[in-house]
This record gives sequence, structure tokens and C-alpha cells, in this order.
Amino acid sequence: MEALDIEQLRSETPGCAISTHFNHSGSSLPSNSTLAAVTEHLQRESLYGPMEAAANAAGLIDEARADAAGLIGATPQEIAFSSSGSAAWGLTFAALPPLKAGDRILVGRQEWGGNLSTMQAAANRAGARIEIIPANEDGSVDATALAAMIDERVRLVALTWLPANGGLINDAAAIGRVTRAAGIPYFIDAAQTLGQLPVDVATIGCDMLKGSGRKYLRGPRGAAILYVRKDFQDRLEPAYLDVLSSSWGEDGPNVRMDAQRFETSEKPIALLLGLGAALKQARSLGVSAIRERIVSLSGQLRDQLSAIPGVTVQDLGTEKSGLVSFTLEGMAPQIIRSKLAEKRITIAANGIPYTPLDMTARGLNEIARASVSYLNTRQEIDRLCDNVAVLARQAA
Ligand SMILES: Cc1ncc(COP(=O)(O)O)c(C=O)c1O
Repeated sequence: MEALDIEQLRSETPGCAISTHFNHSGSSLPSNSTLAAVTEHLQRESLYGPMEAAANAAGLIDEARADAAGLIGATPQEIAFSSSGSAAWGLTFAALPPLKAGDRILVGRQEWGGNLSTMQAAANRAGARIEIIPANEDGSVDATALAAMIDERVRLVALTWLPANGGLINDAAAIGRVTRAAGIPYFIDAAQTLGQLPVDVATIGCDMLKGSGRKYLRGPRGAAILYVRKDFQDRLEPAYLDVLSSSWGEDGPNVRMDAQRFETSEKPIALLLGLGAALKQARSLGVSAIRERIVSLSGQLRDQLSAIPGVTVQDLGTEKSGLVSFTLEGMAPQIIRSKLAEKRITIAANGIPYTPLDMTARGLNEIARASVSYLNTRQEIDRLCDNVAVLARQAA
């Protein structure tokens, strides 16, 4: 017997009745309760005035912050909300001490393309260098190799925990042990991790971590979560301030003493309430139970895809996530995606820009990505694989 009542959860998710959704890592399907949290607040804004409605919702926003903190073993003072993962990442990176000529930033091979561009642009301005940490045989970032790269010029270690282009899971805690021992700032991109894997920031040993609301947490688009470790916050100077992140004192701005130094006073309250509802649901289901079901379903999907002639499952890693990547001989991933979309089966096709270092290192131009959620069923996996098998016959 399964721990989660999947039929019930699907019946509370309108999108499950419309399509066979395998793009949970792009953006998942929100539940009725998340939808209601968003739309009901928009209605209250129109009736009572947005500022007045926000004042009444302040307690719920506090709860959302506490739930975000609870999800990752942090305190509410260590959590800021943001509009996107990239905004959270960029704002935090820009607040680190300025790079100098000769400085080094060490990154995993799976680093998200946007983060990489941000770092490379800053490095170019300063005359600093971005260096790639070697990978283990299974493709994951090699913590021992990282330890050997550390010297006094290393300013940051950046890790994308679960890459966007497949099922690999990096050992974030092993990297954290190296950065802690060396006293080097450690920034984790947990876009695909939150709501999919149990997270405890103290065990991982990171200083900064960000994740999306819309992916495995099933929140609305336009909301993301940033964690900054309490004792690290003072080392970060936000690139800009507003009336929430600072107050005007006799000697100029007094920057807030918590992670909200990265928030602005103006924020999408409705979306944050939706994120709050999604966080509550993820926590009440339990991320360990979610993970267990994803392991089982994605294992089934990998096995069935591998059995289709012409299909190659492209996932690296020893332990794997719900992101299943594959290629089909004779058919480009974009074509696979659009042909499946005609059957109301949604998957993604990822090119080089999302994970340029990893794709280039592996000689891949594009992969098809079917990402599995606990909401998916075994019948949906059969349906996806039956349709991929039809395409494989067409491509042969
Ligand atoms: C690993 C990873 N990092 C960053 C991002 C970008 O997040 P956002 O689109 O919220 O800026 C994504 C989006 O898919 C991602 O998978």
C-alpha cells in the first residue's frame, strides 16, 4: 500500500484531468488549494484594496516563511522570497564581496547556464576565473578533486545540486564538508531539489541556497525561495535597498539583520500565499514519501524507455532524481516534444544553454526530458512509453 493517496491528490489537481504531465521540473501542476489561495487573495485585493488585503494576509505570509524554513531546516530569519530562482541567485551573488583580479570561482559541471553567465560576466569585469570541478565516473561533482583545488584565491563554490538536464544527484553534503573546512562561501542551486528531496541546510553545510516555487513544490509561477545562513548574512551587501530591506537612519541606511534584506516591500502577495499553500501540502505529505514514490516511478520510466529500440536514457549519477532524460535515434528532442504534445503528453526538450558545461562535456546538443512527480501514475508512464515507441518506429 502506498503512503500517499494519489487518486485523491490527482482529483484535487485540475491539470491531471487535462494532460499527461511530465514537465514537473519545468513547472508542475498546482493543486486546488494553491489555486484558491492565489485567486481568493486577488479577489480580496479588488474588494478591500491591495494594501489593506496585504495587511490582513501578513500572518499567512509569516506562516509561508516559517514553512519554507521548516522544509529545509532553517529559521524564518534565514528565508527571503523572490520572483524567480535566477533573481534570487543573481541578487545574492551580486551581494558577495567584489571579485578581484586572480580570484577563482569553482563550479560543478552541471551549473545552470544563467548562474554561469552571471559569474562569467562578473569574472570578466574583475579579471577573475571560473573553473570547473572535475567529475566522478558517474558524472557527479568530485568532492576530493574540489579539495585539491582549494587555495587562498577561491572566493566561491557554486553547485547545481540536481541538474536541469537529467537524473543525476550531486552529493551536496560532501561538497559542503570541503567548503566548511576551507571556510569558503558555498552557494547551492536547489531549483529542482525543493519538494523532491529532503533538505537540511545544516547537514549540507551551505551558506546560500535557492529554489523554485513552481517546480517540485507545485507553487504558482513567479515565486522562489532564498536561504542565507544567519551567520553569513552580514558578509552580503545587497546591490540595492528599499524601505523593507533597510531603514533610513541618522548615518544613512540601516540594512535589515535578516534574510529579508534581499526582499522588497512590493511583492506579489497572492503568489506568495499560493506558495504558502503548496509548502504546507508538501510538508504535510512529507518529502520523504514524495521522494520514495518518485524513485519508484522514475525507475519504471527509465526501465521502459531503455527497452524501446533506438532510445538511449541519458541520465548520469548513481542515485537518481525524477528528471528522466533520453534521446531517440533519428528524431530530434524538439520533434519528440511537439509530437507528444499533440497527444496531450507534455515533456521538455533541453538544449545546451541550460547546462552548457555538462552538455558540451558529454557531446550532447539536446535531450528530451520527462520529469516525474508523485502525481504521475504507472498508467501515465505506460502511455508515455507507448507513444515514444510509436515515434521510435517512425524514426527507424
Ligand atoms: C537547476 C536550475 N537552476 C535554475 C533554474 C532557473 O530558475 P528560474 O527559471 O526560476 O529563474 C532552473 C530552471 O529550470 C533550473 O532547473
